[in-house]
Amino acid sequence: MEIQAVVAVSRTGGVGVDSGVPWSYPEDFDQYRDRVRGDPVVVGRQTFEEMEPIPESTNLVLTRDEDRTSERDDVAFVTSRAAAVAAAEAAGGSVLSVIGGGAVYRTFLPFTDRAFVSELPEQLEGDAVFPYLGAGWEVVNEREYDRFRLVEYENTTPAPRREL
Ligand SMILES: NC(=O)c1ccc[n+]([C@@H]2O[C@H](COP(=O)([O-])OP(=O)(O)OC[C@H]3O[C@@H](n4cnc5c(N)ncnc54)[C@H](OP(=O)(O)O)[C@@H]3O)[C@@H](O)[C@H]2O)c1
Repeated sequence: MEIQAVVAVSRTGGVGVDSGVPWSYPEDFDQYRDRVRGDPVVVGRQTFEEMEPIPESTNLVLTRDEDRTSERDDVAFVTSRAAAVAAAEAAGGSVLSVIGGGAVYRTFLPFTDRAFVSELPEQLEGDAVFPYLGAGWEVVNEREYDRFRLVEYENTTPAPRREL
């Protein structure tokens, strides 16, 4: 299963502060929703508490709390990266979208094949950041929107990163 990160990043690498994002980019929100909708997503418990579940997707919420359960069919709590991938595969998706926040991007990054990074013209000294993409990452696509730029990166690091 392919794993993709989808993120909006400020110039400083910050992705959020005080459990939220201090900006509004409706065009970015729309492209992000379209990209992740329909296939499984994995999200950190803190981010999940501040959002509505992604429609038409299996929402896998990463937590260390083994007692968390969900009453919704489209939400499941998972306690490890491997459990998230297994649940995503069981849900039948072709791609698993990692939708944040900072801790979850960090946990998944070595196992992430592709990253869709919206570069926002913001100076956010956030308490959550998107990890630095090292030399193994290559830009494969770029698109200019009115207020931001979307850059698609591919992880070219060889196979061991895929072992969960
Ligand atoms: N700009 C963007 O694109 C974007 C996207 C999403 C979120 N955000 C922002 O990011 C910020 C939140 O990020 P965050 O880093 O503070 O929190 P987070 O990643 O949303 O959630 C962190 C929680 O996930 C669980 N977790 C993390 N790693 C785990 C692991 N390896 N195993 C099991 N559970 C694990 C823990 O839950 P428990 O405490 O329950 O154990 C941890 O407290 C907010 O400001 C949010 O708005 C920005």
